[in-house]
Amino acid sequence: MRILVTAGPTREPIDPVRFISNRSSGKMGYAVARAAAARGHAVRLVSGPVHLAAPAGVDLVRVETADEMLRAVANHLDWCQALVMAAAPADWRPAQPAGRKLKKAAAPTALPLARTPDILQSLLPRKGARTFVGFAAETGDPIPEARRKLRQKGLDLIVGNDVTQAGAGFESDTNQVVLIAADGREMPLPMMSKDAVGERIVRWLEERAAGAAGTVSPRLSGSRLRSG
Ligand code: CTP
Repeated sequence: MRILVTAGPTREPIDPVRFISNRSSGKMGYAVARAAAARGHAVRLVSGPVHLAAPAGVDLVRVETADEMLRAVANHLDWCQALVMAAAPADWRPAQPAGRKLKKAAAPTALPLARTPDILQSLLPRKGARTFVGFAAETGDPIPEARRKLRQKGLDLIVGNDVTQAGAGFESDTNQVVLIAADGREMPLPMMSKDAVGERIVRWLEERAAGAAGTVSPRLSGSRLRSG
């Protein structure tokens, strides 16, 4: 399969030396990319600025801002059969980034912000037969918000987690997630390494592709089925 993965935060410039961003480490997206490459898939990884080594066997495209991430994903969308949006693009950017370093003495008292594009929603009209996977990192029970985003962004699968739980946060090497498919089925996974979560997501993509080809019926292996 040809899989396009995004990872990491974006940086939205205030001036040439300052930016706003978020706490995404990129570990979850890199784990998905590594797992996909290890299982023999062709992988392109669009990454915001992170402190992680480029995964072996993966084509890496580095971006900085949410606008750049949208352009990169849009450029590679035709190539892919599945898009896994593990990135945490900043939701806002400074409306008018300064061209020169702002001086301390002239500090602005407010920073007007503008919305960045929603990458998944912008690309939904081009989805076609592709599989779209999104993430919902929430503070508290992730299921209601994950379900809302699954519908709103036209996803086939969403990976929800509660970032306030020990071992499930941004910098962590582990994660505790629930996978929710578009048909309503939920698969809560125990706490496991981000590598193992990455592999579960890739296996779900494989099963879905095999189901679409008529080989097996799509299912969430080992899932506790609940519709809703
Ligand atoms: N996402 C995206 N473009 C953005 C922000 C998020 O494509 N500008 C994607 C993320 O990669 C993720 C999914 O949308 O797969 C959900 O991200 P999240 O930040 O939880 O969603 P938001 O739409 O920003 O929702 P909210 O701020 O209301 O929680």
